[in-house]
Amino acid sequence: MCGIVGYVGHRRILPVLLDGLKRLEYRGYDSAGVAWPENGDVKRVRAKGKLNVLEDALEDFRSTKSSVGLGHTRWATHGRPTEENAHPHCDCTGRLVVVHNGIIENYFPLREQLKEEGHTFRSDTDTEVLAHLIEKYLEDDLEKAVMRALKDVEGAYALGVLWAEQPEMLIAARKQSPLVLGLSENECFMASDIPALLPYTKRVIFLDDGELAVLKAGSLKIVSLDDGKILDKEVQEIKWDAGMAEKAGYKHFMLKEIYEQPDAILNTFRGRMEPETGKVELPEIELSTDVIRRLNKVVLLACGTSWHAGLVGKYWIEKWARLPVEVELASEFRYRDLLLDENSLTIPISQSGETADTLAGLRIAKELGSSIISICNVVGSTITRESDGTVYTHAGPEIGVASTKAFTSQLTAIYLLALYLAQQRGTLDHSQISVKLKGLLDIPRIVQDRLKAWHNDASSLADEFYTYSDFLYLGRHLQFPIALEGALKLKEISYIHAEGYAAGEMKHGPIALIDRNMPVVALVPQDHVYEKMVSNVEEVKSRRGIVISVGVEGDEGLQRLSHFMVSVPKVAPELNPFIFTIPLQLVAYEIALARGCDVDQPRNLAKSVTVE
Ligand code: F6R
Repeated sequence: MCGIVGYVGHRRILPVLLDGLKRLEYRGYDSAGVAWPENGDVKRVRAKGKLNVLEDALEDFRSTKSSVGLGHTRWATHGRPTEENAHPHCDCTGRLVVVHNGIIENYFPLREQLKEEGHTFRSDTDTEVLAHLIEKYLEDDLEKAVMRALKDVEGAYALGVLWAEQPEMLIAARKQSPLVLGLSENECFMASDIPALLPYTKRVIFLDDGELAVLKAGSLKIVSLDDGKILDKEVQEIKWDAGMAEKAGYKHFMLKEIYEQPDAILNTFRGRMEPETGKVELPEIELSTDVIRRLNKVVLLACGTSWHAGLVGKYWIEKWARLPVEVELASEFRYRDLLLDENSLTIPISQSGETADTLAGLRIAKELGSSIISICNVVGSTITRESDGTVYTHAGPEIGVASTKAFTSQLTAIYLLALYLAQQRGTLDHSQISVKLKGLLDIPRIVQDRLKAWHNDASSLADEFYTYSDFLYLGRHLQFPIALEGALKLKEISYIHAEGYAAGEMKHGPIALIDRNMPVVALVPQDHVYEKMVSNVEEVKSRRGIVISVGVEGDEGLQRLSHFMVSVPKVAPELNPFIFTIPLQLVAYEIALARGCDVDQPRNLAKSVTVE
């Protein structure tokens, strides 16, 4: 996730771009840059760090009279957050610049081909490929060149292009990454999101996939990328205020991030798998097949929600790659006498990449000779810098303190990693991997289809249960970590005491707690432990406990046993963690809301725990 702004009109360009970027900073903030036409050339200023660093770097250019330009605030996906990797990126001449949000999946072969053709690259980004590709096709018409170049591109993009030879216009294009155009008297805007436009106009056009726009001060043309046909798009009037717009109309970042999960999951597997052939590609793991085959142990190392993702990962890695897996709480791991060596693989999992305990654990594992492959959301963070390789989750910035989309993206990354290990070790063949990848491919759509219904269920549940002060979450096998995660979400944002338990452990203690005052949330997929889970539900019921179940739609038996049932679709058992997690996030959210809690910034919690 990055933020793009572009403007063509009559205002001075720098204040418009900087103001827009500030309003999009929630989309990414590791580096930023702007470009505008000046004296027959394009001036480009970029800076690593937050926007104020860019603002300082622009001090000398305040007097520019240009009224056309592009800006970008970056959340790195390919290449560390540095000035060289900051957008806008340019072609060989420096006279054509591109800002981009998305992931170019085939950037590597394109880059190699363009290099062979004599293009010189100056960054590690996928975006720079776009600039050179457009340059390759550019004669005298930027629109034509962009149309042609995009035919070679696979992946997702929202992009803005500016060329010194046609300084009165910008080109915008979109495929699977958001881009909205703003219209006002003799001026046109483009932006990744509405907040950047609101101070200037409420009249917008949402670009759809496969569309390209030519923006000039007094005109706007939108064409289809397929055949170049001019499209007649509807202008819409935005009714949000600026605060609502930043959260895309959602009440809280947490809710917005819950709803972003289909995209976050998709962006995390995009370009890394071939479901048809059953191949997983993770070039970030630079371990030879020999090393992977020699591994004697995998350690998943994390804290909090990321640890829960690790607990799920253990089942996948053990089952598919046939490797013993330990899942370690980093704060405990770091003080143990560890049995690790050069045949172990340690996988730190961290959204922020800065969690102190996880980092300390990583360092110890490294010292003992273990290979380190991290799973992380923040490019260039300390954990990624100290790892031998990182499989990035592409969830975009997570602002809500309670982790939601980062968790399901971590699940996605570990799922791929587990299959990758199986592929390299030969413990699954390509047809078996293919089935698992096809299942994952469907998850974004399934989640998207269900979100609204789950949200409605969560809000009805909250109406009834928000005054309770204790909850027990039960799950077995892959749903045990999800029970832990569901309980953690509830306690951290609603301050209700909630415990997650392996359902089979109930008899060993917690069953004593069951009464009318402690609702039990039971996770009951139709998998190989279904009957066992149903027995647990019966046990709760017979002790006059209140059962809230999450179960497969059409499961009438479970429905009869439940006071309230949230239905989920039936998917392959290994995919249940994705499906069962999201309703629980929404339940926690709605209960916290009903209790009047500060959902995005719960008391006593910090987004990134950089101290012990
Ligand atoms: C809970 C939550 C925390 C984090 C934990 C680790 O919603 O967000 O439990 O998961 O602090 O943080 P990272 O993943 O940044 O290492």
